[in-house]
Amino acid sequence: MTASTSAAAEPRKVIIDTDPGTDDAMAILLALNAPELEVKALTVVPGNVTAEQGLENALKLVSLAGRCDVPVAGGAKHPLAQKLVTAEFWHGSNGLANINLPTARCPADPRFGPDLIIELVHQFPHQITLIPIGPETNIALALSKDPSIASLVKEVVIMGGSISGGNVNAAAEANIYGDPEAASIVFNAGWPITMVGLDVGDRAQVMPHHTAELARTHGPENDFVVSVLKFLETLGERYGFKGVSMYDPLAVGVAIDPTLVTTQAMRVDIELHGQWTRGETVANRRNLVERNVPYRDRLRIEALDKVAPNARVAVSVDAERFVRLFMERLRSK
Ligand code: RIB
Ligand code: CA
Repeated sequence: MTASTSAAAEPRKVIIDTDPGTDDAMAILLALNAPELEVKALTVVPGNVTAEQGLENALKLVSLAGRCDVPVAGGAKHPLAQKLVTAEFWHGSNGLANINLPTARCPADPRFGPDLIIELVHQFPHQITLIPIGPETNIALALSKDPSIASLVKEVVIMGGSISGGNVNAAAEANIYGDPEAASIVFNAGWPITMVGLDVGDRAQVMPHHTAELARTHGPENDFVVSVLKFLETLGERYGFKGVSMYDPLAVGVAIDPTLVTTQAMRVDIELHGQWTRGETVANRRNLVERNVPYRDRLRIEALDKVAPNARVAVSVDAERFVRLFMERLRSK
């Protein structure tokens, strides 16, 4: 990735596509408090919560941060080819850890999310980084409506996927599982993708001692994040988890400082049909495929063909440095 991380560099223009969502909320507040980023828009996609609840939550979050300058636009109402599966189980009945934030002061942008993405990518050619942290329905709709954006987007930093098993089931990570057809369109668009999956998200954890430290400072965003972390800690303990996996905030972290992770170029395909594997990000670590050729009554391996990578998959993370960055940006805000 080419992003500069020095403070003097021009802030990186980003659009966050989100299904807020507890970790989405922390990711959005991190982005809004990062001088390295210029958040050009939030676009909302159904996933953790319905489209309507997600839009309400996103507006409450930009209002909490005093950032009515950031356009917030609703998008798709459902996945491309399956029923919506919402996750209030993990995010609370309102999607924000059952925390009642003040009523939003910022109004919704009237534009349709995918159209806003297209508009901004053309307005800022080769400068926009897309950060999808929910199902990729809006991104796929934007691509389908205007395929030219694939060559005009600087980078797509995706929270999604896994090369070490799923969280929804044995194979699939929630954002890909939430709209596999959309993910397949996105991963086959030919643009620069950095996949920030469970492989690193599950290692970028806020531990109880981090939460306790953040609880010693105060501010509306600081206090909200502490409440969200405590909600997630309590929920996780019920299932034997200790720390809070910072899936979405890490994707924003990678846009802020790409050196937080190391990546490996891989061909990643999205499984659409497997009985046990629909929604899996099937990663070819070697980028090689055996060529089977008909021979007499059988097939015979006759070559080893290279396959072109389509994503840089994050395979390791400097977790402590990420958590420090996260806490420094939110402390006392
Ligand atoms: O698998 C984690 C992802 O699913 C995160 O984006 C979380 O918000 C949920 O959408
Ligand atoms: Ca999310």
